[in-house]
Amino acid sequence: MDYFKYKGSELFAEEIPLSVLAEKYGTPLYVYSKKTLLRHIGEVKRVFRSSGALICFAYKANNNSALLKLMNQEGVGADCVSLGELLLARKAGVPKDRIILNGNGKTDEEIKLALKMNIRMINADSAEDLLNISRVAGSMKTKARVSFRVNPEIRVPTHPHIATGLKESKFGLAYDDALKAYRLAASLETIEICGMHMHIGSQITETDPFAEALKKLAVFSKQLAKSGIRLKYINAGGGLGVKYQSEIPETLDKYAAVIKKYALRIAPKIIIEPGRMLIANTAVLLMRVISNKRSGRKNFVVVDGGMNDIMRPSIYGAYHEALPAKVFSEREKKDYDIVGPICESGDVLAKKRRMQNLYAGELLALRGAGAYGYSMSSNYNLRARPAEVLVDGSRTALIREREDIRKLI
Ligand code: LLP
Repeated sequence: MDYFKYKGSELFAEEIPLSVLAEKYGTPLYVYSKKTLLRHIGEVKRVFRSSGALICFAYKANNNSALLKLMNQEGVGADCVSLGELLLARKAGVPKDRIILNGNGKTDEEIKLALKMNIRMINADSAEDLLNISRVAGSMKTKARVSFRVNPEIRVPTHPHIATGLKESKFGLAYDDALKAYRLAASLETIEICGMHMHIGSQITETDPFAEALKKLAVFSKQLAKSGIRLKYINAGGGLGVKYQSEIPETLDKYAAVIKKYALRIAPKIIIEPGRMLIANTAVLLMRVISNKRSGRKNFVVVDGGMNDIMRPSIYGAYHEALPAKVFSEREKKDYDIVGPICESGDVLAKKRRMQNLYAGELLALRGAGAYGYSMSSNYNLRARPAEVLVDGSRTALIREREDIRKLI
């Protein structure tokens, strides 16, 4: 549920027509709805309230500091995977006990900062990662609170690029090696074992894979208990999918019920790391049409945003709904490919969409752009990254300036 709606023929973000935003801030422009974000946060908090779960937003999905500050005010913590994300969590004012460091290739510098910030825990990805954490903690004469990411080794119904809990995945401890790694951790004076972590993938619209994975980890946690290793935390990762097209994701109530039911068999305190479910549908990418052309048998709308601004369609074939900012119901409709200006054939933002004719100067919005949109953008073709704006009712705030290409070069 979001607050991007047509009023009459115009598409609005809350109380403001997108056309007004394009005039004021230029295009391409990421437009966020504050009311949508607060609603999503409220829902996630509501469904997990009874369990007192810690909700850590996956910063990789969106790293706009104004949005992160807002999340922090709402009690949402930070799941970080890099030095930059740790620094951003600190800048957003996130309390140290709501910050987690993940990642399968942490540098000494990242581990040092995490220990200096005294964050809630570091999730070790392997025995080697554990030994690095231990060495750095030793050199700082401190003890590191550590959980292990354990790979439940299950198949997950999502795009292969974003399934992370397969047997052959690069992430986490292989299920059969996990006991050995926990025993090693238990033998190290620099390490305090505090939990277990999993993340099975992203854009998962059913709850069965979460249940299956947690059940497998529960079996393993019994083995740990027999070895005298007790866990305080179970981190169920992120991964619940959202509606981009015709998906019908499981409800948050069901998701939370499943996580609570199975996670609590492993440890008394739950952590989750939602990314997409909180932020994806809080934003659109607003772009201006540069031209409408026909080539061979195909119709193209060329817009001023490209795969450097939003990579998901090009690299995952991801579907984002494309909406004209103004509807002209009398106009002829055709099948269009919506393409950007990047010099790559893969720079197609939407394929074969039945749409009204759109002409130069008119506006088009790509929906569901809040997660892995700006955060995966680049300067490819030496293009400046877009601006980001937050709409709150009839007010707007520029929350990230458009890059200035002259300054970049
Ligand atoms: N926790 C960990 C350890 C993760 O690796 C991720 C995402 C999350 C949480 C958050 O997952 P979410 O709730 O957003 O599904 N760029 C891809 C998605 C990559 C996800 C990477 N990890 C995309 O645009 O679909």
